[in-house]
Amino acid sequence: MQVLSVASECAPLVKTGGLADVVGALPGALAGQGVRMRVLLPGYPAVMGALSDAQRVGWFDDLFGGGARLVQGRAAGLDILAIDAPHLFARPGGPYIDPNGRDWPDNPERFAALSWMGAHVTVHGAGDWHPQVLHGHDWQAGLVTEYMRQMGGHRPTVLTIHNIAFNGSTDPGRVQSLRLDPWRFHTEGYEFWGSISALKAGLMGADALTTVSPSYAEELMTPQFGMGLEGVMQHRRHVLHGILNGIDDSAWNPATDPAIARYDSPEGKVAAKAALQAELGLPQAEGPLYVIVSRMTHQKGLDLVLQILPDILDQGGQLAVLGSGDPGLEHAFRQAGEDPNVSVRIGYDEPFSHRLIAGGDAILVPSRFEPCGLTQMYGLRYGTIPVVALTGGLADTVINASPAALAQAVATGVQFSPVTADALCNALSRLGALYRDRDSWSQLQRNAMAQPVGWSHSARAYADLYRSLTGAE
Ligand code: ADP
Ligand code: GLC
Repeated sequence: MQVLSVASECAPLVKTGGLADVVGALPGALAGQGVRMRVLLPGYPAVMGALSDAQRVGWFDDLFGGGARLVQGRAAGLDILAIDAPHLFARPGGPYIDPNGRDWPDNPERFAALSWMGAHVTVHGAGDWHPQVLHGHDWQAGLVTEYMRQMGGHRPTVLTIHNIAFNGSTDPGRVQSLRLDPWRFHTEGYEFWGSISALKAGLMGADALTTVSPSYAEELMTPQFGMGLEGVMQHRRHVLHGILNGIDDSAWNPATDPAIARYDSPEGKVAAKAALQAELGLPQAEGPLYVIVSRMTHQKGLDLVLQILPDILDQGGQLAVLGSGDPGLEHAFRQAGEDPNVSVRIGYDEPFSHRLIAGGDAILVPSRFEPCGLTQMYGLRYGTIPVVALTGGLADTVINASPAALAQAVATGVQFSPVTADALCNALSRLGALYRDRDSWSQLQRNAMAQPVGWSHSARAYADLYRSLTGAE
């Protein structure tokens, strides 16, 4: 089974969040299921610079305003197809923003080019390679089915929704620059409340839709979480599948992690905590050390942590944070970091994220919505107890320490609802009580560390889906 994955990020080459982790992990996870996956990416400098054995497999005189090569090669152990289109992708900054943090004004065209190329490779092949299924991710791959329709060659398509909050909407005046068929600007096509929406086009056009947890699949059909697309999701519910993300459990394994003092049992965590406290200049206090590794946005609910910080400190707790994003949140966390029991690092730092998650007693993920979430699963793997909002993938991956779950010895973390400062505060009191009871705590840690969080189950679900779409056995 040959599958083309189409995405705007892919770890470790280019990453702003969990989307990259998933896109980078799927080819390896699917190899064991008889699926060969190539990943089509924009030719950002970081992608072009990493390619080895590069070979040109296509040339396009006018890919949305300039010449482009399609290049096949290897990078980070993955089979990559890169769109070498300097007028679109040879730029400094992130995949979506310029060095000053502003969105590139031509993002709609840049990712339309990605979608167009995905459709082209699927319909016409790349060199002698012909994918049987196209698997796109998020709005950046949403227009694939519109272009396939123009090319007159249908192939099975899957679209995965990692976050419906980003729908790739743009002004209807861009129909021409996006090279869309004007007559498709209607509710069955790419029109969405008078705008063009790349995600809407994909949600209507793809043969199968998936999202990254079963709970988010349900939530997407409600006004609270559907971000205006709940009607579309209800309309397409018969092709929607919730398939939980896994984590890369070779990179995230406390027994082999080169970034930390390794351990394979709760007892071994003691040294990791002491090392982290020493690194951060935190007193070697007895209370729970809470950690956060996160984008700082409204979605992640970190403002609630700031609200209850006095309670955390009153109860003898400590807090260590790594993140970046919203300038207001960054500023507020920097200020909070002036307390001797709080450490805040604004930035992006992969090895430090490992040391934090290894050294913390508990990891806080108080998201207002969370399609899946990966850091709570890292926490489980490292015996760092997740305290999570009861939403999306956070609901699906953590077993709340209710009296019944504790009695059955199956609890792995603490969940709270609704997503308010009071409920979070209450969750931390419950966690504090468990933490002080050393037997309960080490039981909780052992349960967490034993929880399966890898890809094997979900890789099978994707492979089955591809097979069902192609009629293969
Ligand atoms: P989202 O994709 O919504 O940001 P996820 O939990 O799915 O949330 O994925 C976030 C990923 O990005 C995780 O791999 C997490 O460790 C990583 N990450 C987030 N912020 C940072 C940071 N400041 N430094 C290092 N890694 C980070
Ligand atoms: C999105 C979601 C996150 C999910 C990730 C990978 O960024 O916000 O919940 O884990 O995609 O699917």
